[in-house]
Amino acid sequence: MSVTVRTMTPADLDAALAIEHESFPAPWSRGMFADELTRPGRIWLAAVDDTGALVGYGGVMRVAEEVHLMNLAVAAGCRRTGVARALLGELRTRAATAGGRHLTLEVRERNESARALYAAEGMIVTGRRPGYYETGEDALIMGADLPAVAVGQPGPAAGPPVAAADAGRELVLAIETSCDETAAAVMRGGAELLSSVVASQVDFHSRFGGVVPEIASRKHTEAIVGVVDAALEQAGVSLADLDALAVTHGPGLIGALVVGVAYAKGLALATGLPLVGVNHLEGHIFANVLDDPTVGPPLIALVVSGGHTSLIHVPEWGVYRTLGETLDDAAGEAFDKVAKVLGLGYPGGPVISRLAEEGDPAAIDFPRAMLRSGDYRFSLSGLKTAVINHVRHEREAGREIHAPDLAASFQAAVVDVQVAKTVRAAREHGVAVVCLAGGVAANPSLRESLRAALAAEGIRLSVPPFALCTDNAAMIAAAGTWRFRRGERLGLDAEAVSDLRLG
Ligand code: KG4
Ligand code: ZN
Repeated sequence: MSVTVRTMTPADLDAALAIEHESFPAPWSRGMFADELTRPGRIWLAAVDDTGALVGYGGVMRVAEEVHLMNLAVAAGCRRTGVARALLGELRTRAATAGGRHLTLEVRERNESARALYAAEGMIVTGRRPGYYETGEDALIMGADLPAVAVGQPGPAAGPPVAAADAGRELVLAIETSCDETAAAVMRGGAELLSSVVASQVDFHSRFGGVVPEIASRKHTEAIVGVVDAALEQAGVSLADLDALAVTHGPGLIGALVVGVAYAKGLALATGLPLVGVNHLEGHIFANVLDDPTVGPPLIALVVSGGHTSLIHVPEWGVYRTLGETLDDAAGEAFDKVAKVLGLGYPGGPVISRLAEEGDPAAIDFPRAMLRSGDYRFSLSGLKTAVINHVRHEREAGREIHAPDLAASFQAAVVDVQVAKTVRAAREHGVAVVCLAGGVAANPSLRESLRAALAAEGIRLSVPPFALCTDNAAMIAAAGTWRFRRGERLGLDAEAVSDLRLG
């Protein structure tokens, strides 16, 4: 039997009362259940089989760090099939994510199967309540610490998710709003992309030569409902078909992230669907897997976007060791600033790389900052200044700027350093594959130079498809599915974190 655990709703009450009556000598009344479901600090979950029929339920009450199991029952015909364990596991994860630290419960001394279940889940007897039950029986008090979860962070790895029988087919809706694209995607089984909708705000920002945070949050708010609806419609699914929601909860512009996170939390609350938080940079790295599922750790990732330039060692999925980052501007930011100086608009990357194709990369000898620094750090603001100074100098001298040569020479200076450091990191860590990620991964010169340099060392380069280099929600769905399978959850009290770290 495949069992799915979801939030319990008043619609479950009839079926729950039937199970309650067959399970306990003094069953709860409908009024007690109905009241419980609406109270703050409660988590009530329903377990349903593949026909959608209720086979069990359980609820906890949380007061600050203390969590108490109030009720847990499984339909008579479905006992000893893992339903109680699935319910308890998800209750513990959700309670921990909401801030709970310690779980207690009472169990009938003579209910040996229940005691065995709780003992197998690591709960120990901590006390006794004499004559607790209406029959005069004693209750044993059992307790256990909940897994440590920082509030607002993804939950712990809690073994396989509850819908284990559906593993490989999970339907996930992902939302991404960390910068200037409002994006939503629907994915099946972590790889099969059913839809990917990206509403770009570029035209609003381009007139200011860069992303204006206030405009970004406003535009996300206007776009998100339509983008999510379009992603569901294009995938041919409804909210009721989904198994989980994933959302980028950092890093990025705080006002932009908040829109996606708040919307996803609202959806999770309304639908009872589990919510998973994804780090935007992890999403960019996962974009590589979408085209080629054989790509996997150990690997080195070069994440180059409008906000980041980082070399990351990934010994296994979920473990990210940042080897070095930019000390000042990000690579994409440098492209954008140089384009602005040349009056080429925003974003600068695509237009500079197109111009560069017709230019001579050796025309101007721009600095290769930190090329020989012996570490994995980058610095791009000096290069930007060198380009600005060159432009000013040429204009003052009355000479015309040859934009293709300038673009090609600037791009070569960026690419040379990125390639040298990435190859050295791959060699030093003995990996067989390097993943290029982030918006600048769309740069053809970087792709080709890196591919050639790595090939000379027998190392493979993986690049995402062009459409998945810049921000999108397909990559968030891929990373989110992986985190969902690990049992990780984002609490409904979680907040967006603008400087969220990887790993
Ligand atoms: O990943 P992304 O969409 O957003 C962030 O997370 O920052 O990256 C956007 C950045 C912009 O700075 C843009 O100029 C740059 O990626 N970019 C490129 C190219 N296409 C986009 N940079 C260089 N060459 C390109 N072809
Ligand atoms: Zn990005």
